[in-house]
Amino acid sequence: MTRILFVCLGNICRSPMAEFIFKDLAAKAGRGAEFEAASAGTSSEEYGNPVYPPARRKLAEHDIACAGKTARQLTRADYDRYDLLIGMESRHLAAMRRICGGDPAGKMHRLLDYTARPADIADPWYTGDFDAAWNDIESGCRALLGQLTARR
Ligand code: 4NP
Repeated sequence: MTRILFVCLGNICRSPMAEFIFKDLAAKAGRGAEFEAASAGTSSEEYGNPVYPPARRKLAEHDIACAGKTARQLTRADYDRYDLLIGMESRHLAAMRRICGGDPAGKMHRLLDYTARPADIADPWYTGDFDAAWNDIESGCRALLGQLTARR
């Protein structure tokens, strides 16, 4: 079982999209039982709030549900609980290291670093571009799943 925690700033747009897209891709590949996926934010700003409606709609367009997910903040305990902590932007990685007291086991990575086009994923909460967020997150999750399943 590989436990993956996706991390963004607020945990209402990008990281929940990654959590539910990854679960959907893994399930469709017949590998769902091998993974546990969840998400958290580096900020506590949105604590307790559901997935932001435009992000929820984007998931729903692809028949992916995210009901029941509410935002929570990353904690130091998450570092031990998860095998991989995947941020959306370089600055999330910096905040993740601050919260978790570093990354001694090398568990922290940026999502698009798994693709041929390493980059930060722009915040759709500011840009309003949920299509771009979907495309980036989907390609990152696909690459991550490919790398994790190719090994076994
Ligand atoms: P996310 O987007 O990090 O993709 O969930 C944001 C949502 C809320 C805020 C920032 C980013 N905020 O500052 O409240």
